[in-house]
Amino acid sequence: MTTVGFERFGFDSEVPLDALRSIYLRAHYVRSANATSPKPGEKTKEELESDAIYYPDSRSISYSTLTRFPPVKLLSPEKRKRILVTGGAGFVGSHLVDRLMLLGHEVTVLDNFFTGSKTTVGHWVGHPNFELVRHDVVEPYMTECDQIYHLACPASPPHYQFNAVKTVKTSFMGTLNMLGLAKRTKARFLITSTSEVYGDPEVHPQHEEYWGNVNPIGPRACYDEGKRVAETLTYGYHRQDGVDVRVARIFNTYGNTYPVMNPFDGRVVSNFIMQALRGEDMTVYGDGSQTRSFQYIHDLVDGLIALMNSDETRPVNIGSSDEFTIGEFALLVRDIVEKVQKEDGTAPARRVQVIYKPLPTNDPQKRRADTTRAKQVLEWQPRWTVRMGVEEMVRYYKAKMAEGSI
Ligand SMILES: NC(=O)c1ccc[n+]([C@@H]2O[C@H](COP(=O)([O-])OP(=O)(O)OC[C@H]3O[C@@H](n4cnc5c(N)ncnc54)[C@H](O)[C@@H]3O)[C@@H](O)[C@H]2O)c1
Repeated sequence: MTTVGFERFGFDSEVPLDALRSIYLRAHYVRSANATSPKPGEKTKEELESDAIYYPDSRSISYSTLTRFPPVKLLSPEKRKRILVTGGAGFVGSHLVDRLMLLGHEVTVLDNFFTGSKTTVGHWVGHPNFELVRHDVVEPYMTECDQIYHLACPASPPHYQFNAVKTVKTSFMGTLNMLGLAKRTKARFLITSTSEVYGDPEVHPQHEEYWGNVNPIGPRACYDEGKRVAETLTYGYHRQDGVDVRVARIFNTYGNTYPVMNPFDGRVVSNFIMQALRGEDMTVYGDGSQTRSFQYIHDLVDGLIALMNSDETRPVNIGSSDEFTIGEFALLVRDIVEKVQKEDGTAPARRVQVIYKPLPTNDPQKRRADTTRAKQVLEWQPRWTVRMGVEEMVRYYKAKMAEGSI
C-alpha cells in the first residue's frame, strides 16, 4: 500500500501514505538533556522540522513553531473548498483534517478540546489554509463554508458518560446549530453517526434499514439516543429546508491516537497494543467471545470523503465486515507486537498473557457492519487488513514511547 484515498465523484482524495506517515511518525521534539545539542544518534532539528526540545530529567518540553509545514497540493480556486470540521481535534477529526489539508483545501476546526487536543492538529496551526477555533458547538457559530463535517461529540463510553446531560446537549444542540449553519450557507452537511444507533441488535449484520434496539435509559443512552435524535434532526432539516445532508454510521475504528484507556469500544485496540508494548498482561472484558469488527482510520477517512462528495443522502454504514472475537483479537495484537519487537531486537523476557475481567453493563455482544450500500453507492470497501493496520499502529506507539511522549 503506497497511497490512501481515490478519485471519486469528481473529488480526488488520494495522498501518498508516506506523506501521512511523515506527519504522524514525526517526532514532536528533540529528546535531550542538553538544550543546545542533541545527543549522538538523535535526529537533528532540521530532520525533525521542529525546534521543540524535551528535557527527560524534569519531564518538561520547550515548544517552538514548526520551521516548515508539510507540503499541501495547490488547488485552483474552483476546486479548493472551505471545509468546516467540528470535533476536528479528536481522533477521527485530526486524521480527516490531515487528509483535507494535504489535498489542498481550506480547513477550519471547531473544537472545545473536551476529549480532543490542540496537539493533534498543532502541526497545521499557522498554515494559511488552516484555522483552529476553540468553540463549543452547543453555542451557535457563524462562518462561510462549502462543506461541514460534523464530528463534535465524545465517542468513548467513559468520556460520553462523564457528563451524560452534556453529551445529549452536544448531540442535539450541536447538531441543530451546525444544521442551521448549513441551511444559511447552503453548505453540504455530513454527520458522523454511529453503529450504536442499532443498540444491542437483533439483526446481524446490521444494514441501514434496521431501526435498532436501544435501551433509552441505560448508561449508554446519552450517546446512542443522542445520535439517534441527531439523525432525526438531520433528516428534519433535509425534508423541511432542503439542506443537503449525508449520514455516516461509523462502526468501530482504530488508528493512531494518544491512547484512551477505555477497554469497551474500538479503542480496545490501542489498549491491547499499549499493554503488550509495555509488557503488561492484556485485559479482555467478559469471556472474550463477544465479537467486533475493526476498520482502520485511513479507510474511514476514505469513506467519509467519498460519502460527502457523493449524491447519497440515505444513511451509509462505514465499517469493516471482518469479524473477530475480542479474545482472538488480543492474540493477534500480541503476535504483531512480538513480530515488531523481534525485528527491532527488543523482545521482552516474559511473554504477556491475556487476562479476563467482568463485562460492563449493556456491552453489545455482537456488532458487524453490512456495508453493501457503501460498496454499491460509494464504490468503497476497506482496503487495510487488520494485520496491516495494527502493525502501522504498533510502530506509531513504539515511536511515541521512544520519544517519551506516552
Ligand atoms: N472512533 C470510533 O470508532 C467512532 C465510531 C462511531 C462513531 N464515531 C463518531 O465519530 C466522531 C468522532 O469520534 P472520535 O473517535 O474522533 O472521538 P473523539 O472523542 O476523539 O473526538 C471528538 C472531538 O469532539 C470534540 N468535542 C466534544 N464535544 C464537543 C463540543 N460540545 N463542542 C466542540 N467540540 C466538542 C472533542 O474535544 C474531540 O476533539 C464522533 O461524532 C463519534 O460519535 C466514532
